[in-house]
Amino acid sequence: MDSILVTGNGPLTGDIPIAGAKNACLTLMPATLLSEEPLTLTNAPRLSDIKTMTALLQSLGAEVTSMQDGQVLAMSSHNIDNHTADYDIVRKMRASILVLGPMLARDGHAIVSLPGGCAIGARPVDLHLKALEAMGAELDLKDGYVHAKAPGGLKGGTVEFPFVTVGATENALMAATLAKGTTVLKNAAREPEIVDLAECLRKMGAQIEGEGSSEITIQGVDRLHGATHPVVTDRIELGTYMLAPAICGGEVTCLGGKISLLGAFCEKLDAAGISVEETAKGLKVARQNGRVRAVDVTTEPFPGFPTDLQAQMMALLCTAEGTSVLEEKIFENRFMHAPELIRMGADIDVQGGMATVKGVDRLKGAPVMATDLRASVSLILAGLAAEGETVVNRVYHLDRGYERVEEKLGACGAKIERIKGQ
Ligand code: UD1
Repeated sequence: MDSILVTGNGPLTGDIPIAGAKNACLTLMPATLLSEEPLTLTNAPRLSDIKTMTALLQSLGAEVTSMQDGQVLAMSSHNIDNHTADYDIVRKMRASILVLGPMLARDGHAIVSLPGGCAIGARPVDLHLKALEAMGAELDLKDGYVHAKAPGGLKGGTVEFPFVTVGATENALMAATLAKGTTVLKNAAREPEIVDLAECLRKMGAQIEGEGSSEITIQGVDRLHGATHPVVTDRIELGTYMLAPAICGGEVTCLGGKISLLGAFCEKLDAAGISVEETAKGLKVARQNGRVRAVDVTTEPFPGFPTDLQAQMMALLCTAEGTSVLEEKIFENRFMHAPELIRMGADIDVQGGMATVKGVDRLKGAPVMATDLRASVSLILAGLAAEGETVVNRVYHLDRGYERVEEKLGACGAKIERIKGQ
């Protein structure tokens, strides 16, 4: 298994290109199942999660062709001959559940394996299922699979989510585009990835209003057609690379970045003493001399501070002046990076969903273990600022969500290399 060797060596300077969003691409890809005509995505990120979704769609009979070094995905679902999403693929990636709504909406039946638990919490899919039931789906849970049927097609209905869920909003939104009548999604997620999905579905002929607000209204249509759509910028990759100069010092421009994608995060950087400026090229991030100031962070659905940037922000706050409190409100078990950061000399106390970080002068390099995607990149960021060498093991998590990390950070002066495993 590969590992990443990072040697802390001071300020970073340069430009980092930000890819299309993994999480947007993972919901745009299943949208191909809604139409018999081709759907082409441009600005796709080159990641192992995208390969997993490609394999899943292909297992259902969809054609997926990767072009231009993986940045263009040409898909066609004119010949879906299998309606079962198998456990072997679904267990690798929770986003696989997103094929359920589209298959059910177009063909009236689908069987999808339950994703099971994952490292950052229980993460059930009950709200995906309740939303589809509100549109008339008949569901049966058997042997770890959801057997879904909608014999006369799905029907519009009102879905009120008890709390914000990104995935269930996406599944319901896709399904509702082909349901008979009007569907209203209340307390819907407002993430930029939802807005991107709605824009793509509209290009395919869907009638949607209100995306980006907490109430989305969908007027079902008989069929959707083909479209070409660019994947929105990855706000989590953006925030991650903005933290690199924040941690190491220097000045880095994240190409294609916009403050509107990360308002709450930029406010916290400002409070910590990091300057962020939006230019025509992207977001220019600079850290002046002196230590970063401690800030308190609470994760929330968009437009709040994203849970997917909590681990990386913690890496920054480990060497801040003062004490920071990080509260994780989205997932119940998302501080697995804390013990690894402690091994690097950080002073962190985790109590339930709350982590208290007392800033230390400097972290020290150590061998550490990546436990999930965002945790793994937080350890790389910490390693960039630490004294000596840090080896981040189990980087397959990293490859799920970050393309060419070594190249992107290396181009700004970071000492980082991949060590090939057996
Ligand atoms: C998506 C993102 C993930 C991000 C998360 C929150 C993708 C592929 N993944 O995950 O990177 O961290 O949003 O911004 O887009 N829940 C239930 N029942 C459900 C669905 C969710 O209880 O049926 C709970 C989850 O366990 C979690 C919370 O709701 O505690 C929010 O989860 P959700 O927004 O659905 O996250 P995902 O869509 O899985």
